[in-house]
Amino acid sequence: MKDRIEQLRSDFEAALGSATDASELEALRIAYLGKRGHIAALMQGLREVEDKKTAGQLINSLKTEVEDRIKNADEALRRAAVDREIREAKKYNPTLAFPREMGSYHPITLATREVEEIFRTMGFTIENYAEIVDDYECFEALNIPKHHPARDMQDTYYLENGQLLKTHTSAAQNAIMKKYGAPLRAIFPGRCFRNESTDACHENTFFQMEGMMIDEDISISNLIYFMKTMLSEVFKRDVKVRLRPGFFPFVEPGFELDINCAICGGEGCPSCKNSGWLELCPCGMIHPNVLEAGGIDTERYTGFAFGLGLTRLAMMKYGVKDIRDFNSGSLKALSQFKSR
Ligand code: DAH
Repeated sequence: MKDRIEQLRSDFEAALGSATDASELEALRIAYLGKRGHIAALMQGLREVEDKKTAGQLINSLKTEVEDRIKNADEALRRAAVDREIREAKKYNPTLAFPREMGSYHPITLATREVEEIFRTMGFTIENYAEIVDDYECFEALNIPKHHPARDMQDTYYLENGQLLKTHTSAAQNAIMKKYGAPLRAIFPGRCFRNESTDACHENTFFQMEGMMIDEDISISNLIYFMKTMLSEVFKRDVKVRLRPGFFPFVEPGFELDINCAICGGEGCPSCKNSGWLELCPCGMIHPNVLEAGGIDTERYTGFAFGLGLTRLAMMKYGVKDIRDFNSGSLKALSQFKSR
C-alpha cells in the first residue's frame, strides 16, 4: 500500500508539472480527487490492508497535498494570465482609464468677452478697475453727496479705513476721466457689491459693464446709436430700443433703456411682465458736475454713460432663471456652458 501511495505521489508530481492551463488542471483534479479518481481507489483498497490506520493517514495526507498543490497551481496560472495580458497590451494608454474633465468659461465671462469685443470694434478701450474704492469715487464724484437719498439704494460693505466695496462700475468714471481726459471712449466691466438680501433676482455680488463716450457734440442720438448697435450684436437680431426717463444723480437727462421682448415679439408675455419691453440698461448724458470732477472742460465736451447689467444680460442670453446659480460654484449648473 505504501508503495502504491508513493507511486501515485510521484505520478501526480509529473502530471502537475506538465499541466499548462486551467482545463488540464481541472482534468488532473478529477483524475485524482474525483469520486472515481485515484485517491478514491486507494481508499477502496484499504479494505485489504491490515494496518488500516497508518495507511488511511498516508492516503489522507496525500489527498491534502494534492488539493493544496492543485489550488496553488491554479492561482499561479491565473496570475501568469494577468501578467501576460498586461505585457501583451503594448498600446495600453493609462490616461484612457481616467476620462479628463475639461473646464469651461463662466457664463458671465462669456457675456463680458462678447460685449467687450463689440465695443472694441467701435473704438472703445477696455479698462480694469479696483473693487475696493473710496467714498469719493463711488458717490461724491458722481454727484451723490453725503446724505443724498440715492445712497439708500446702494448700501455696501465698508472697511475699517473708510473704503468700501464698489456698488456700481460708475465708481471708476472719475479715475478714468482723470487718466485719459477728453476725447474718451472706454468701457469698464467689473464686479459690484451691495448689502442686499438675496433672491432669484437679487445678489449681493454681481457684474456690470460701464461705458463712457466723451467728445465734442456728443448727443442722445449717439447714445441711442451705440446702445442699439451693441444690443443688436449681443442678441443677434435687430433690437428696438426705447428710452424712458430715469433718475441717476450722475446723468442729466437720465434714462432707462428698454429693448423689445424677443420672446413674445412685443405682444406681452411673462418674461417681459406683459409689457412687450425688457428693462436692460440705465444710461444718460453725463452730468456737468461729474465731468468737472473728472477735469473735463464742460464748455467744449459732452458725453454719455451707461451701466449695463452684465449679470442680467447673461441671465437673459442664456435663460438662467435664478441669479444665485452664477455664484453657486455648482459644476452641474456651470458645466452646461462647456461647448460654447
Ligand atoms: N450706476 C447705476 C447703478 O448701478 C447705473 C447707471 C445708470 C450707470 C446711469 C450709468 C448711467 O452710467 O448713466 O444703479
